[in-house]
Amino acid sequence: MCGIIGYIGKKQAYPILINGLKRLEYRGYDSAGVAVFNGDVHVYKRKGKVQDLIDFAKGKNIRGTMGIGHTRWATHGKPDDVNAHPHTSGNGRLTLIHNGIIENYALLQEALKKEGHTFESETDTEVLVHFIEELQKRDNLPIEEAVRVALSKVVGAYAIVVIDRDDPGKLVAARKASPLVIGIGEDEFFIASDPTPIAEFTQKVVFLNDEEIAVVTRGGDLQIKTIDNEIQTPFIQELDVKIEAMEKGGYEYFMLKEIYEQPKTVADCMRGRINATEGWIKVGGVDTCKDRIFDANRFIIAACGTSWHAGLIGEYLFEELARIPVEVEYASELRYRNPIINEKDVVIALSQSGETADTLAALELAKAKGALCYGIVNNVGSSIARMTHAGSYIHAGPEIGVASTKAFTGQLTLLSMMAIHLGYERGTIPRSYYLQLLEELENIPGKIETLLEKASDQIEYIAGEIKDASNALYLGRGYNFPIALEGALKLKEISYIHAEGYPAAEMKHGPIALIDENMPVIVIATNKSAYEKIVSNVQEVKARKGKIISIVKEGDTVIRNLSDYTIEIPDTDEPLTPLLSVVPLQLLSYQIALMRGCNVDQPRNLAKSVTVE
Ligand code: M6R
Repeated sequence: MCGIIGYIGKKQAYPILINGLKRLEYRGYDSAGVAVFNGDVHVYKRKGKVQDLIDFAKGKNIRGTMGIGHTRWATHGKPDDVNAHPHTSGNGRLTLIHNGIIENYALLQEALKKEGHTFESETDTEVLVHFIEELQKRDNLPIEEAVRVALSKVVGAYAIVVIDRDDPGKLVAARKASPLVIGIGEDEFFIASDPTPIAEFTQKVVFLNDEEIAVVTRGGDLQIKTIDNEIQTPFIQELDVKIEAMEKGGYEYFMLKEIYEQPKTVADCMRGRINATEGWIKVGGVDTCKDRIFDANRFIIAACGTSWHAGLIGEYLFEELARIPVEVEYASELRYRNPIINEKDVVIALSQSGETADTLAALELAKAKGALCYGIVNNVGSSIARMTHAGSYIHAGPEIGVASTKAFTGQLTLLSMMAIHLGYERGTIPRSYYLQLLEELENIPGKIETLLEKASDQIEYIAGEIKDASNALYLGRGYNFPIALEGALKLKEISYIHAEGYPAAEMKHGPIALIDENMPVIVIATNKSAYEKIVSNVQEVKARKGKIISIVKEGDTVIRNLSDYTIEIPDTDEPLTPLLSVVPLQLLSYQIALMRGCNVDQPRNLAKSVTVE
C-alpha cells in the first residue's frame, strides 16, 4: 500500500523515480508525486496514475541527482492533488514521502497547531513532516536526529524518506511495519518499498528492519541506527530478480502474463524439492524444525484474501494426507481475538507479499504465545520471511497484477508438497500413494499448459455470454469449495460483478433463492468423491433455470449434459485438483473484466500489498 522510491547519486533522479513509480504502481494508484533537488526542492504531484504525473511535469524543472517519489493508496484524505505525496514542512525545509498510518496524528496535529502550524492537506503524513520540522527547529537537530526523535513519539506504521533542503547531501529513511529496501550501487543509493525498481541498477540490497533509520550520503556510505540510537551493521544481500520478470513481455496485462506463467512457476516451486523417480521430497524449511512440526498438536493457518483461500485448501491437504488437525483463520480476526495458542502449535502464515499487516500482526501474537511460526511467502526478504522461525519461498517471481494468480498456485504447490512429505513421514499415507502423488505433482505444470492451450477459446466465448451479469454464484465441494471462493473473489475484484462462493450443498440453505435465468452459476465439479452429490446440486440449479457453467474433468458427460457451458480440465489426483481447477476461473475473470473495459491490473480501490489494517 503506497509505493515509495528515493535516489541519490550521479544520475538524473527524475527518470529513475518515474520508472520506479511505474514498477511500484501496483501498490497504489490514487495519486503520484516526486520531489527533485537542484539547489532547491521542486515538488510535482498529481491525482491519478503515474502517467498523469508525467504529463503534468513535462517541461518543468525536473533536473537533479537526488529525489523521492510516491504512488498513493489513500488512507487519510481523499485522492486529490493536495493529499498526494510528497508533503512539505511548514518552513519548506523538509520534504517527505510516507507509506503507512500515523495513528496518533490527530493529537500531534493539535499540539502543532498550538505552535502555529497550519496544514494544507487532510493527511497524517503532513502532520509527521511538520512534527519533524518542529523538533528540528526546537533543538537545532540534524535531520536524522530529528527523524529519530519524532519517530520515537509516533504510534503507527511507517516507511518514510525525507529530504532536508538545508542538508542536501543525504536522504534519511526509516521503517516500522511498512517495508523498505535500500539498493547499493556505484556511488549511488536507491530506496524503495520493494526491490522491483532497484533490481535493474544493482542486486546489492539491505532490507531495513522495524524501527531502523538509514542515512545514505552522496558519495558516502549507508549508516543504520535504531530508534533507540544503537548503531547497526548493514546486512547486505544479493537479489536474484530478473528484469524480464517485471515486464509484461508482450501480454496486454500482467495478470494474463502471470496466468500463463503458471506452468513455469509451479515447476519452479518444485525445483530441487521433489523427485518422483527417486521417490523423495524435501521442503527445507520443514526440515529445519522437523521435531516441532512433526510433534505439533495442530496447525493454525493465518492469511488474508486469496492466500486465505490457499490456506483452506491447506486444511484439506494436511488433514487428509498427514492427519494433522488444522484451523484456518483470517489473520485480521485472529489478531484481535484472544486465541488459545501455545508452544505445541505451528502457525503457518501464507502471504504473497510477505508484508500484509494483519498477517504480520497475527504472527507476532502467535510468536509471543510460543508457537512455531512458519512463513510461506513469495517476496524474498519480506517482513514475514524475516520474522518467522522457518519457512519456504514459493519462487513465483514478482506478481504485479493486483489479482493474485501464480502466487496462489505456488502456495498450493508448496502446501501439497508439505502435506505429502508430512503424510509419508508420519506414516499416514502408504508409499504407493506417496509415489503416485509425487509423480502426479510433477505432471501438474504440463497439465496446466495443456489446459491453457485447450480451454482458452472456450473460456473467452463463455466470458462473452455472461459478461453483463450483475451477480454470479460459484459452487464447489471438498477441495473445490475454496476454489469456488477464489473464483468469486477473482471475478468481483477485477470486473466489479458481485459474486459469491459457496459449498455446493449449502446452496439449498439460502443462495438458491437468488437463482433464476439471469444468474450464472459456475460449478466446479471435478471431484471424484461426492460426485453424485454435486450432480444433484447441478440438477437443482438447472431446475431453477440458472445458467450453468461447469468445470469438469475430461471425459465427463453427465454434468456436461446438464450444463449450458462446460470447461474440461485434465484429470489428476483429487488433492491436487485445485492446482488445475482454479486456472479456468482466473482466465474467465480476466476475460470478463477485459470485455467490461476494466483495468485488470489496477482494479479500483485496491492495492497489491495491504500494509495497513
Ligand atoms: O500478499 P498477501 O498474499 O498477504 O495478500 C493477501 C491479500 O491481500 C490478497 O490475496 C488479495 O486478496 C488479492 N487481491 C487477491 O487477488
